[in-house]
Amino acid sequence: MQLLGFLVFLGVAAAEDGLKGWLRYAPLTCSDRCHSNLPSGIVTFNTTTTSPVYVAGTELQNGLQGIYKKNVQVTHKKCNTASSVVVGTLDQYRQACGAVSGIPDLEEDGFWLSTKGSNVQILGQNERGALYGTFEYLSMLAQGNFSKVAYASNPSAPIRWVNQWDNMDGSIERGYGGPSIFFKNGQIVQDLTRVTEYARLLASIKINAVVINNVNANATLLSPTNLEGVARVADVFRPYGIQVGLSLNFASPQTFGGLGTFDPLDASVIEWWSNITAQVYERVPDMAGYLVKADSEGQPGPQTYNRTLADAANLFAKGVQPYGGIVMYRAFVYDHHLNETNWRDDRANAAVEFFKHLDGEFEDNVVIQIKYGPIDFQVREPVSPLFANLVNTSMAIELQVTQEYLGQQSHLVYVAPLWKEILNFDLRIDQKPSLVSDVVTGKRFKRKLGGSAAVVNVGTNSTWLGSHMSMSNLYAYGRLAWNPSDDAEEILQDWTRLTFGLNQKVLDTITRISMDSWPVYEQYSGNLGIQTLTDIIYTHYGPSPASQDNNGWGQWTRADQTSIGMDRTVSNGTRFSGQYPKEIAAMYEDVETTPEELLLWFHHVNYTHRLSSGKTVIQHFYDSHYTGAQRAQGFLDQWEALQGKVDPERYEHVRRFLDYQTGHSIIWRDAINNFYYNLSGIPDEGQRVDHHPWCIEAESMKLEGYKTYDVTPFETASGAVAIVTTSNSTAGTASTKIQFPSGTYDLAVNYYDLYGGKSQWKVYLNDRPIGQWVGNSEETLSHTPSIYLDGHSATRVKFRKIKVKRGDTLKIIGMPDGTEPAPLDYVALLPAGTLD
Ligand code: GCU
Repeated sequence: MQLLGFLVFLGVAAAEDGLKGWLRYAPLTCSDRCHSNLPSGIVTFNTTTTSPVYVAGTELQNGLQGIYKKNVQVTHKKCNTASSVVVGTLDQYRQACGAVSGIPDLEEDGFWLSTKGSNVQILGQNERGALYGTFEYLSMLAQGNFSKVAYASNPSAPIRWVNQWDNMDGSIERGYGGPSIFFKNGQIVQDLTRVTEYARLLASIKINAVVINNVNANATLLSPTNLEGVARVADVFRPYGIQVGLSLNFASPQTFGGLGTFDPLDASVIEWWSNITAQVYERVPDMAGYLVKADSEGQPGPQTYNRTLADAANLFAKGVQPYGGIVMYRAFVYDHHLNETNWRDDRANAAVEFFKHLDGEFEDNVVIQIKYGPIDFQVREPVSPLFANLVNTSMAIELQVTQEYLGQQSHLVYVAPLWKEILNFDLRIDQKPSLVSDVVTGKRFKRKLGGSAAVVNVGTNSTWLGSHMSMSNLYAYGRLAWNPSDDAEEILQDWTRLTFGLNQKVLDTITRISMDSWPVYEQYSGNLGIQTLTDIIYTHYGPSPASQDNNGWGQWTRADQTSIGMDRTVSNGTRFSGQYPKEIAAMYEDVETTPEELLLWFHHVNYTHRLSSGKTVIQHFYDSHYTGAQRAQGFLDQWEALQGKVDPERYEHVRRFLDYQTGHSIIWRDAINNFYYNLSGIPDEGQRVDHHPWCIEAESMKLEGYKTYDVTPFETASGAVAIVTTSNSTAGTASTKIQFPSGTYDLAVNYYDLYGGKSQWKVYLNDRPIGQWVGNSEETLSHTPSIYLDGHSATRVKFRKIKVKRGDTLKIIGMPDGTEPAPLDYVALLPAGTLD
């Protein structure tokens, strides 16, 4: 991107609470020359005042006013275009202004943007396209980019959807940005202001449909009152070119309709659904379609009646077909009662086993929605082999913007580089180039339908997702859905300029830490393809490697005393690798040719197995966790160098999150390393694991009003033991005489911040207060809190540059609150530059 030299200063908008996302239209100050590049009129060819082209006119007006303080009038339908910006569909333009030449063919939703002539032309194939072009032009203006461009832009695929996992009671499954903007107390909310704002954000990244309710669907959404509510929501999205879709509960005919069955081939069931569909379309004539999760994680489905998944999908497909709707049928079908003692059992096999033989049996308006990997949004997975096994069926890739397994927005993880690896993967179907992106968009097998869906889960929090930085993921999702070959870093930089302004240092810093964030998270959470070693039984957040195994969920690591990894080979394992096309299958079958980042995904090896670096697997584990945590510390340092360059509100918010992440990355590091050290008994060559010279265990301190507590899982407490207050209402004191040499130290205190109370801690050095904090992260961060002392609640607070003399008394007083007994794990006194 070319930034012109006459841009002299960038302003910072007033209330930076995140509500406007990347559409802030924050003021840029520029010289007169800059103004001469701005249009002095806006002409729109909209048909109504609720159409996307009308919205485009308003956006342009607001944008020019906000960014350049230029007041510009909108006129409608007049072909008086000199030095104006002209917005409409190609047809509308032709009607008003006559023939137009030089514009390449536009596909549905595509647009032409030209800033070259005497006016700016934004012409869509349809009104939606015209709005997309408008947002693209505004994005240039907001980034101070006045380049002369003239190009057509077409979508890679027609399906560019988002899914919200919102429940009717207002909660959001795997949502970290507060309660639902759609639902409350079993109904659609009255005030839809936030829905309008969401529509605006989504339209600006070219999203064309939103499924508003959880895939674990509640049938009461289908009541007449609630369908009226859905119609109101659809009315809000429509002017932004966004259609609404609904998740269905497969058993609705029985549980909600009162029928004796929900058999998809039963005539009464077919009639019931057809009646419901008619009611839906009566209220929402442009409803996008249905999303169906069935026979999955306890959800009802066709298997109850020995019907196929195609029987189920086709039931809905035939229902919505006359209205132009589609059915997104999720491939996330698996048995969650698998048996780990069976070496051949493998959840990863499920999708291909369930769907491959049905290829060609789905109606044309069925799209199989497939998670990018065979398990579940893990930090590293191979691409789902189902993409290579459906040739006569339309598909969409399912991504997750909400960071369910990736730090739940309390950790910075920019996910676009992960998505790019998946989208760019060449499956070599029939030994021909077969990028996942080309398969899902429908290009590879010439399917009309295809594209992507992302689970987003914004909530009422003003940051939408729970943290400012996580919005880069939503922005990137839209960009990649439109054009999967866009570059992850360039996307990020556009987002950064739009969100934080044009300061080069801010741009460079956010670029660096965001681009590092996925690899770093992988290093401290789980590497070599073992998955994110998070707790899969409870919150999916903090470390708990043991939770992966010895249960039916099938996210196994098969770690024992000597070895680790899933053997997914055809020769000796679960045969999963054989689900890929020949060349890929051969690569994964052989331990030598399997990329090391997926080694333990495909192979079961000894901890002493040597990697190409010469390191053993276990040593690589230890080292990676140390490197990852070390790199995460750098995020905070880099951010702090931006003080004064970012508005105080967002500076402090991001600082708080990164500060927390630096601490939690250490908790991850130590938990994972302790766990595998304990299991394998193989010491760390660097003598770091289980060896913390600067650490003082809380349980070794003098305790008054505190008692020891055995923490589960053991690896989430140093020495497996923490301390908690003996009563719920009286303070406890832990004190110790410092035996370290006199000097200046950073003091780290590891404690547990539980849901259920807001304990307060105070630290003293010889009765002089040196720091205090409150256990209120359930309000200040975004991840799911825990009611236990564990890897989710384990937290670190740091006080810097404390002068300490040998023999000084360090004392911590913890005041419990509610059910939170002011728990403490250990303190570490860290000489400058030392990381324990
Ligand atoms: C994950 C997630 C669930 C969700 C499911 C799905 O397992 O944890 O909350 O319902 O995916 O995608 O259906």
